[in-house]
Amino acid sequence: QPIRLKDYAPPDFLIDSVELFFSLHKSKTRVRSRLALRRNPKGRSGAPLVLDGDDLTLERVSLDGRPLDREAYETGPENFKLAQPPEGPFILEIETLVDPTANTQLSGLYRSGANYCTQCEAQGFRRITYFLDRPDALAVYTTRIEADKSEAPLLLSNGDLVEAGALEAGRHFAVWRDPYPKPCYLFALVGGDLGSISRDFTTKSGRKVKLSIFVEHGKEARADYAMDALERAMRWDEERFGREYDLDVFNIVAVSDFNMGAMENKGLNIFNDKYVLASPQTATDADYAAVEAVIAHEYFHNWTGNRITCRDWFQLCLKEGLTVYRDQEFSADMRSRAVKRINDVRTLRLTQFVEDAGPLAHPVRPDSYRAIDNFYTATVYEKGAEIVRMLNTLIGAEAFARGMEIYFTRFDGTAATVEDFLSCFAESAKRDLSQFARWYSQAGTPVVEVATRHDPQTRVFSLTLSQSTPPTPGQEQKLPLEIPIALALFDAAGNKLALETNDAKADEIAQGRIVLSSETRTLRFPNLAAAPSVSLLRGFSAPARLEPPVGEADLLRLLAHDDDPFNRWQASQSLALRSIFARVRGEERTDDAFADGLGRLISQSNDPAFTALALTFPSEADLAREQGEDVDPDALHAARKALRETLGHALKTSLAKILERLTEQGAYSPDAASAGRRALHNVALDLLAAGDGALGTQLAEAHFNAARNMTDRLAALGTLALVGGDARENAFARFYEEFAEDSLVIDKWFSLQATIPEEATTRRVLDLLAHKDFSLSNPNRARALLGAFAAGNPTRFHARDGSGYALFVDAVISIDPKNPQLAARLLTSLRSWRTLEPDRRRLAEEALRRVAAVPTLSGDTNDIATRALA
Ligand code: ARG
Ligand code: ZN
Repeated sequence: QPIRLKDYAPPDFLIDSVELFFSLHKSKTRVRSRLALRRNPKGRSGAPLVLDGDDLTLERVSLDGRPLDREAYETGPENFKLAQPPEGPFILEIETLVDPTANTQLSGLYRSGANYCTQCEAQGFRRITYFLDRPDALAVYTTRIEADKSEAPLLLSNGDLVEAGALEAGRHFAVWRDPYPKPCYLFALVGGDLGSISRDFTTKSGRKVKLSIFVEHGKEARADYAMDALERAMRWDEERFGREYDLDVFNIVAVSDFNMGAMENKGLNIFNDKYVLASPQTATDADYAAVEAVIAHEYFHNWTGNRITCRDWFQLCLKEGLTVYRDQEFSADMRSRAVKRINDVRTLRLTQFVEDAGPLAHPVRPDSYRAIDNFYTATVYEKGAEIVRMLNTLIGAEAFARGMEIYFTRFDGTAATVEDFLSCFAESAKRDLSQFARWYSQAGTPVVEVATRHDPQTRVFSLTLSQSTPPTPGQEQKLPLEIPIALALFDAAGNKLALETNDAKADEIAQGRIVLSSETRTLRFPNLAAAPSVSLLRGFSAPARLEPPVGEADLLRLLAHDDDPFNRWQASQSLALRSIFARVRGEERTDDAFADGLGRLISQSNDPAFTALALTFPSEADLAREQGEDVDPDALHAARKALRETLGHALKTSLAKILERLTEQGAYSPDAASAGRRALHNVALDLLAAGDGALGTQLAEAHFNAARNMTDRLAALGTLALVGGDARENAFARFYEEFAEDSLVIDKWFSLQATIPEEATTRRVLDLLAHKDFSLSNPNRARALLGAFAAGNPTRFHARDGSGYALFVDAVISIDPKNPQLAARLLTSLRSWRTLEPDRRRLAEEALRRVAAVPTLSGDTNDIATRALA
């Protein structure tokens, strides 16, 4: 039953052109499709024509203009079959009826509020009409849309507008044509009544493009930042990758009901409005950064995804990993490269490392799947991006750029594979990449074991690096990978040492980068009087784990002196981890040296955003991941809290100075430097409050009242949420009153309450599930409450009495019949159940079994439950 990569076969038919006709209606939308088909010379001769379908009402079919009798074809809920189609080219016309209002899955044609919109990736197009719903069936599309002018004055589809006009009875129409061949997952349609902003853009070669963003009426001003980001992204792609836009218009539509972040439909991106709308009063700095990143991501897909698409869904990382890499690079250029890298690695570890360590682990390019929607994962996206980044590191920026150039030229207009992609770099770098390619096929996070030895007699320091990758589902044996490792050595005074060796690859080593491609490699550094501190995996040069933990003295030295900001930050995290796990083991801690180190960092650093990150300690979820087994969330919570108390107390004076120095003045600006100052201020306040609750409450309340922007407002509310009491409840009440009409802000209000780490939160979440503003049908709202509870409140989600799992699983079971993709995604929160201590492990397993036992469970959710339990 699973679909396997090795079974790939080209389609038996090709679709040269598609003409679509939509007559929009709330519950009976008529869809006529006219397909110009012919046999694929690469297909099986004599094969029947089988089209995919899902939940369609077939009205009529005709072949070359003649209506087909019912006996001439077979049709079931999932397909349409012509047993003996003509041998030569033919025209097939199919008319179906779909009900957009009843479509609560948000896949296919559905309604968000009063608007019509579509989501076709991965397999939503078959919910609109019978089609070859596979990414290697490329065709050019012409789309005519008719609707009531009063209901939907705006009618959009892919490509350029070719015609529009009025019809009888208050109806009107628009015809769109997309000249670029594309698979149907990139099809889009929007009908509705929306406001917009527009801007003219001229590409490097002189094409005039009209950029428009459509949003709910009255929210136009909140799209300005997205527009600004779009323009910057378009310019950047021209400069960095030589990629220009290729149509006369580029449209973005924001909708409130969306399963994912956004979708790169050709010329008509459709977005979760959370990644479009931003204003100082309603969006935090992190929201602004996310808008910028997602706008760029979807735009970059125009080349990496649309002009060059995927042969099959196993190749998803070909477009997603590469496009994430591109958007990461864009954000790094727009903001602080170091801060961006640190944040990306935090996300990678929190999502991908956890996925890789559990039952849902899969290769970046999976070799089988049951439900493709469940493979839009951190592994495909984030680890996929890391592979591209390593490729750049491994072959160098120049060969990488030439390889990308070859890729864009050679594969334009095609549906490509990972092999196609790698072949471009093998060519540009004149290098074999077959071992490197294992990163795509081998799941699991590699462990690099580090052993050092210093011999005072010979003054030789030797560094031995050994790699291994733990087994993952279906992959017991692992092969060595090519792991790029950036490294440096520091002496006791913090001086960076020259990397002199007698190694065959002495040059490479002298540059501070090596490649670990065998199981073990030893480097010998002569002429060292004492053992240096080793800074490894600088810049997080590979998605690997280092073992064993680095010693405290070395970490303190790196915290003070490492000139790689990533590893300097890593030193702060590792010191925190050491301390927290010592506390978990019941050891007495003072942490004076750590506090001193942080104090010095605070006084010496002139990068507030970086300092803020160094003062943000590993979250409880990070701790659980680091521990990896026998996790007791209560113990981790208590130990982390104790460390924050100690440090908040010890650093009180430094933190107070930060607050004084960084009190916000003047108008809000979302730029990275201003955001960095706000981040440091708010982290300092939160840590201060951890050390002195009374003072913290007072300061946080004042900050909450004085805040002129959402970043400060929400941060203050977050600190108040932790300190508790009346101050907290008053602030939550005021926050609600002020933003009751603003759903994206109310999402934050739900989330923050769900993460309060105290017993009463379970009751609070149950009440919030019954709140008049709560709805299981809106993905953003459901995730705001349930996703935040599961991911951001370990002590309550994993409550000893099972109450957290109970409410969560009840909700997943109620969501599933309406929106399987959403239910399946939420359920992945239980994937690490095996790492829990035995009592909770049993409760979590029971919870998963309760989901798996639902007889009507959707395929998507069943796939997650089954794999999680396997
Ligand atoms: N291609 C989109 C993006 O990454 C994501 C769409 C995923 N949709 C889905 N149903 N899984 O930008
Ligand atoms: Zn994407």
